[in-house]
Amino acid sequence: MSILVTGGTGYIGSHTALKLLERGERVVLLDNFSNSGPDVLTRMEEIAGCALRFYRGDILCADTLSEIFRTEDVEGVVHFAGLKAVGESVQKPLEYYRNNVAGTLNLLEVIGRFGVKNFVFSSSATVYGSRSVAPYREDMPAGGCTNPYGQTKYIIELMLQDLYASDDSYNITALRYFNPIGAHPSGKIGESPSGVPNNLMPYITQVAAGKLPELRVFGADYDTPDGTCIRDYIHVEDLAEGHVLALRNQRGFNIYNLGTGTGTSVLGLVSAFEEATDVKIPYRIADRRPGDVQTSFAAVTKAREELGFLARFDVRRMCEDSWRWERYANGHA
Ligand code: NAD
Ligand code: UD1
Repeated sequence: MSILVTGGTGYIGSHTALKLLERGERVVLLDNFSNSGPDVLTRMEEIAGCALRFYRGDILCADTLSEIFRTEDVEGVVHFAGLKAVGESVQKPLEYYRNNVAGTLNLLEVIGRFGVKNFVFSSSATVYGSRSVAPYREDMPAGGCTNPYGQTKYIIELMLQDLYASDDSYNITALRYFNPIGAHPSGKIGESPSGVPNNLMPYITQVAAGKLPELRVFGADYDTPDGTCIRDYIHVEDLAEGHVLALRNQRGFNIYNLGTGTGTSVLGLVSAFEEATDVKIPYRIADRRPGDVQTSFAAVTKAREELGFLARFDVRRMCEDSWRWERYANGHA
């Protein structure tokens, strides 16, 4: 029996697929390479030390999905495939609704036809919007996201909840990720943003590598100890482990936060990076970025008690691994 990993050559999908293999699961990967490429698959195979089952295709194509389910003995699906750039989603909302919402709908319809009942979905802490105050608990109100990307995540959560309400033989888990950073300890796979990064850690590593002149810190007048926004950064390897645990503990419909429960400010992350790598990050304070929430971090009790999930890696280790990956990627660009 295998686990189908959609978006399996993407940042989080690739780490999770390798973690599942490490834990003795068989995996089948699907990706259309819209935000990754065949080189990732090659490096994943180097790390795994074996060939991986891979399909190049789109979750929007029912024929491709049916071929996979006909050929492979799939018992569960971990669904990462999707578009994730917040700014782009504002420019191209329909692309996001089509790819993320219609793509997931298509996948669920095919899964239903083949009688596969176990489904894990990549949701996001972004669904908490700005209505609640951190630490965010899974039972706090969600929705009201400020951008189409966030809306697609929330809509998919609702779709999954309704599907389960109609047929409780499904096991469905939505995992709300906080801020994944870090990379595989080998340094051979990691996050590869196209163009200038929007997210903080890839921006920092590109400044460190000399590809960008300086970091702009978006706002230093927030009501936080150093005036900069606070986030819950989580190592992608911990996140991957969270998926293994989620798959092993599926029962009914559930939502879990995957975070560390600890907040780090923007300047705190800059300092941690400098200490971990001995590389100075030039920065200047800039205006606030529209849509940013001041403080976001997870309540971790539910994932700990029900899944046995506890993040192991600290921010220093996240910085070390992100930096190792950045240097590897530059050497192999
Ligand atoms: P990523 O872009 O690195 O990986 C997504 C993969 O899906 C890519 O390899 C891409 O080529 C593929 N893909 C996209 N559309 C597809 C389609 N229609 N058919 C087949 N493949 C398709 O992103 P990631 O950071 O690994 O994120 C994975 C999932 O986790 C996404 O759904 C994302 O929204 C969610 N998420 C990510 C973060 C984050 O900070 N990285 C935070 C919260 C949630
Ligand atoms: C962003 C997205 C969110 C998504 C998440 C993970 C927005 C409004 N939100 O969240 O939907 O789920 O990424 O992909 O885009 N920062 C700087 N300078 C930079 C980059 C970031 O100061 O060059 C600051 C930001 O203002 C923020 C913090 O660093 O305070 C973290 O930013 P980022 O990595 O983009 O993550 P989120 O804002 O949490």
